[in-house]
Amino acid sequence: MRTQVGIIGAGPAGLLLSHLLHLRGISSVVLEKRGRDYVERRVRAGVLEQGTVDTLVEAGVGERLRREGLPHHGIELRYGGAGHRIPFEKLVPGRSITVYGQQEVVKDLIAARLAAGGDVRFEIEDVAVHGLESEPYVTFGGERLDCEVIAGCDGFHGVSRPSIPEGVLSVFEREYPFAWLGILAKVAPSSEELIYTRTERGFALHSMRSPTVSRFYLQVPADARVEDWPDERIWAELRARLESVPGFTLGTGEITEKGVTPMRAFVAEPMQYGRLYLAGDAAHIVPPTGAKGLNLAVADVRVLTEALAAYFGHGSAELLDGYSEACLRRVWRAQHFSWWMTTLLHTFEDDDPYGRRLQMSYLEYVTSSEAAATTLAENYVGLP
Ligand code: PHB
Repeated sequence: MRTQVGIIGAGPAGLLLSHLLHLRGISSVVLEKRGRDYVERRVRAGVLEQGTVDTLVEAGVGERLRREGLPHHGIELRYGGAGHRIPFEKLVPGRSITVYGQQEVVKDLIAARLAAGGDVRFEIEDVAVHGLESEPYVTFGGERLDCEVIAGCDGFHGVSRPSIPEGVLSVFEREYPFAWLGILAKVAPSSEELIYTRTERGFALHSMRSPTVSRFYLQVPADARVEDWPDERIWAELRARLESVPGFTLGTGEITEKGVTPMRAFVAEPMQYGRLYLAGDAAHIVPPTGAKGLNLAVADVRVLTEALAAYFGHGSAELLDGYSEACLRRVWRAQHFSWWMTTLLHTFEDDDPYGRRLQMSYLEYVTSSEAAATTLAENYVGLP
């Protein structure tokens, strides 16, 4: 079997790449270890930058996103007994974000690939990549897929990155001493906008998926298990952290999903080796506080698509050669922003009173200085 681009992983990065390549007349095969049901149900992030929305709409997969996505023109930072709005419409006019679940993006992309006769294979076993220096091919379940380029879109735990010979990659990473417990609940959002809350009990986030489904996160110890968090405990803790301003009442409802997300930062450089190109979580992870993970994956894929179009269109490898460098500028900006948001809003065990005062002082600065708030807003909605 032969194709131009062998794509490992049917998450947002792999599926979007396959779709964008198809629009440029470039063939690909997507190989996914999990089942279709699993990838379509996997609950992940939900904040799409303007650039991400534009990419999906321009690619013709934005119809449901436009209909069901929730446009947001600000977020709230809540601390010290008061809420402070960061107004995007004032600080970064014309730019906003859209709340739409990552798994909905995945569903839309799978539907589009299959409607166009795309080759997306699920439940693929024993995927391995070979010949990265000159003649790349992928083996899986006793089959062989020859290709000209391999795209590693298989996430942080995938097989692509570890296939790069030792000594090639420089790895930068940081583990945070806490995790996020995330839930979905059948209850209308208690606020129209996202609320990022810093309290002495830890961080909490109020988000949403639709007018009838809310999404919440709680900062929990790094070793927390879902079993430690029965529903009543979750609601009590969410109330204790979010009902910290007068007049705000948290609506509660049936919890339909619970999961613990580790908080980690990771970058592998360069994002390419020979004929293998890494995109999304396979190359970099950000803590979710800045809502950047999915958006970075989409940005990688945009760059890779242009590079592959130049390569297959007129044999120019210049953009492909510069792929990693072109992506890493944005990746590192997002790393810094995500670290900054995380540091601003979480409690750290080794914080002394001085550290807590510094944190409060910075929160007050961000919510009172237009320059500081603009920095937050500009990064949050996404750099062009
Ligand atoms: C989400 O809705 O899942 C969400 C929102 C904002 C974040 C992270 C996750 O920073």
